[in-house]
Amino acid sequence: MSGVNEIRSAFLGYFEKNGHERVASSPLVPRNDPTLMFTNAGMVQFKNVFTGLEKRPYSRATTAQKVVRAGGKHNDLDNVGYTARHHTFFEMLGNFSFGDYFKDVAIELAWNLTTREFGLPKDRLLVTVYSEDDEAASLWKKIAGLSDDRIIRIPTSDNFWTMGETGPCGPCSEIFFDQGEGVAGGPPGSPDEDGDRFLEFWNLVFMQFDQVDAETRLNLPRPSIDTGMGLERMAAILQGVTSNYETDLFRRLIGAVEEAIGSHASGASLASHRVIADHIRATAFLIADGVLPSNEGRGYVLRRIMRRAMRHAKMLGAREPVLYKILPTLVAEMGRAYPELVRAEALIAETLKLEEKRFLQTLDRGLSLLSEATEGMSAGAKLSGETAFKLYDTFGFPLDLTQDALRQRGIEVDLDAFNTAMQRQKAEARASWAGSGEAAAENVWFPIRERVGATEFLGYDTERAEGAVVALVRDGKEVESAGEGEEVSVVLNQTPFYGESGGQLGDTGTMRGDGVELEVTDTRRFAEGLFVHRARVTKGVVKVGTPLDLEVDHRRRTMIRANHSATHLLHEGLREVLGSHVAQKGSMVAPDRLRFDFSHPKPIEAGELAEVERLANGIVLQNAPVETRIMAVDDAIASGAMALFGEKYGDEVRVVSMGTAEEGEKAGKTFSVELCGGTHVRATGDIGLVHIVSEGAVAAGVRRVEALTGKAARDYLLEQDARVRRMAAVLKAAPAEVADRLETLVEERRRLERELAEAKKRLALGGGGGEAAGPQAKDVAGVSFLGRVLDGVSGKDLKGLVDEAKAQIGSGVVAFVGVADGKASVVVGVTDDLTGRFDAVSLVREASAAIGGKGGGGRPDMAQAGGPDGDKANSAVAAVEAALAA
Ligand code: ALA
Repeated sequence: MSGVNEIRSAFLGYFEKNGHERVASSPLVPRNDPTLMFTNAGMVQFKNVFTGLEKRPYSRATTAQKVVRAGGKHNDLDNVGYTARHHTFFEMLGNFSFGDYFKDVAIELAWNLTTREFGLPKDRLLVTVYSEDDEAASLWKKIAGLSDDRIIRIPTSDNFWTMGETGPCGPCSEIFFDQGEGVAGGPPGSPDEDGDRFLEFWNLVFMQFDQVDAETRLNLPRPSIDTGMGLERMAAILQGVTSNYETDLFRRLIGAVEEAIGSHASGASLASHRVIADHIRATAFLIADGVLPSNEGRGYVLRRIMRRAMRHAKMLGAREPVLYKILPTLVAEMGRAYPELVRAEALIAETLKLEEKRFLQTLDRGLSLLSEATEGMSAGAKLSGETAFKLYDTFGFPLDLTQDALRQRGIEVDLDAFNTAMQRQKAEARASWAGSGEAAAENVWFPIRERVGATEFLGYDTERAEGAVVALVRDGKEVESAGEGEEVSVVLNQTPFYGESGGQLGDTGTMRGDGVELEVTDTRRFAEGLFVHRARVTKGVVKVGTPLDLEVDHRRRTMIRANHSATHLLHEGLREVLGSHVAQKGSMVAPDRLRFDFSHPKPIEAGELAEVERLANGIVLQNAPVETRIMAVDDAIASGAMALFGEKYGDEVRVVSMGTAEEGEKAGKTFSVELCGGTHVRATGDIGLVHIVSEGAVAAGVRRVEALTGKAARDYLLEQDARVRRMAAVLKAAPAEVADRLETLVEERRRLERELAEAKKRLALGGGGGEAAGPQAKDVAGVSFLGRVLDGVSGKDLKGLVDEAKAQIGSGVVAFVGVADGKASVVVGVTDDLTGRFDAVSLVREASAAIGGKGGGGRPDMAQAGGPDGDKANSAVAAVEAALAA
């Protein structure tokens, strides 16, 4: 039992046996905390359970949590690869008590697992406690029988755990393993504690407080437990190795790196192999959880991680994208525990390839700039901030990549100057940006939401209902009434109007009451669940308290329904055809069209699009009823429903299913199942027809399709049909033959053009009239001269003709005047043996004057000019001849 996968199972199994609910890892992008960049501990998904805001049906839980520490409070990025312990991504095993057990049971459970199940010898273990926590110290003594010198009191924040600036926190107690005298380092609290000998592998946090802000720390409703064991560290201990990178999982990953690059992990190259093995994990898991590389926020952290890995691959000798080749090994190792990795494998591979290809284009040049800029520098020197900024701005080197590159040589970056350059760029950007003031205007909704509660939405079942006005807002302020002609935002206690969300546009329609009428132009949602109707009073006065008859524009809503349901069909169709990495990145469902954005790294071929459309229309033809169910989120996702990543779902969600798959792996099963709050058709036949009208890119790795349904799709196709008929009529062919006929025509035209060019050439050189081929030069003052006017020949063709004529006459002067569109162009050529006597440029000027041109230019052996008087072409030839004779 010492492989990483077995240790994980043993841990979870142990706590399950001890009454803990096994809960899946939450995504790396936290759903319940806007303050955190990435999930940085196992407790993050339980944050609100600790504070009592959220209730769960269990009070004990255990998880293997995906964690990224590469940004924010817990950031290990810079150490990765250079120490035996640090990772950007790692797995944290934990057990949690939500007001159930506290310190004693937590210590007992941890001690038993460590010494009995995992069999670690007691005399190799020691613990730390927060210096003021006498209770924990005496519990360790009692439960574990540890002597006082093995219970070390730490007075610093090292033994007080907080997840970030705010959130649940408390004193903690850490368990250490003594790797023996062979490894350098002292016990915790000693001056050389940073050495590796004493290895911390488990942190037990006694959660007691909630840090609300910098000043305020409240007691939690009930004392709780949060623990975190580094799986990689426990694996190293149980496998008897002193570095996480020597465990089974990492050995295999590093092996895959060696194979992909053809390198060998030893000596100086070891760190690079480790960095790559670590970073490929963070990269793969982040992409699987919906993060894509970008230039800000989470996407930029991912990009930094990817580019660091790429630089190290380059150092190991990689010349082309290689990182994606390591992916199959990672998926084989971790895909069972984290099926999202398997689902996203294609997307991860494509994203890696694309990002590597792009960065490799600037990496080389950036690296040579860096080595020039640091030439002759020794340890302690500083790279100028401007250069670091240029590397960042022009070559795509994240600052930490530059720092990482200089690390071995002990060179630092002048951070102040770098930041100044960065600020300067930001200020320039800000100057061109004008705030809309929208956010301030929205503040008005929160007090209303607090006072009147969320609006009840009735529009799934009805498009007509009655509601009472509970608030009116005009120009950003609450008002009591609004009169005829005024624009006003109306909040009602309930409404059938759909408020824009999930890409579906808001409803429009009318509201009528006693002597009052309003036209609703849009419906939005604010402050979590407040439906706000933008309306214009067309008659009478509307007052707070007025009951109104509400009616949604039925025609418009019907088209929206069809487009929304069609969006689901296309989504599933795209997944079937392109692969399961296709995930929704955005959508717009309007009455007249729909738009769907999704992750896919390259353009979609026409055949693939046609296939997607065929699948979607197959379901339309089934006329299958659209089923909506309300389910618990977990059940819904377990049943295969597609959920939008990072979307906040309540405990209960609407699940919309439609159609039966007719082919492929899913044959016989429901075709499309999605978590969705939108409005849909009753049966798929109501969609009528789905037709994709465009496909393109919206951002790196994100594609967009636009489609039409029903009448709009039919109108579009009818128009296309009319076009084809018109073409057929012009071609005097049947519509089915149009394409073939056009091909023939284009081919014929090409041939004719070729023939025409040939004919013109023959005419120019052969003197026309069909007499014997060969130039008809005449003798002018002992020089052979060939002058000719060529109708229909444009300036660009003249030069080649003159060249040929020169070659044919061997020695002499050629002057061709082409006339096209009433204008004349003239080219004069002088053979090389005569350039001492005649200058083509001065000859062409004579010609140019004759046709009303202004000079001309070229070289002594070939010059050209043009003029507006095409009818004087003959005099241009004569002018050259005269010049020769003079
Ligand atoms: N939340 C604690 C940690 O991350 C267990 O160390």
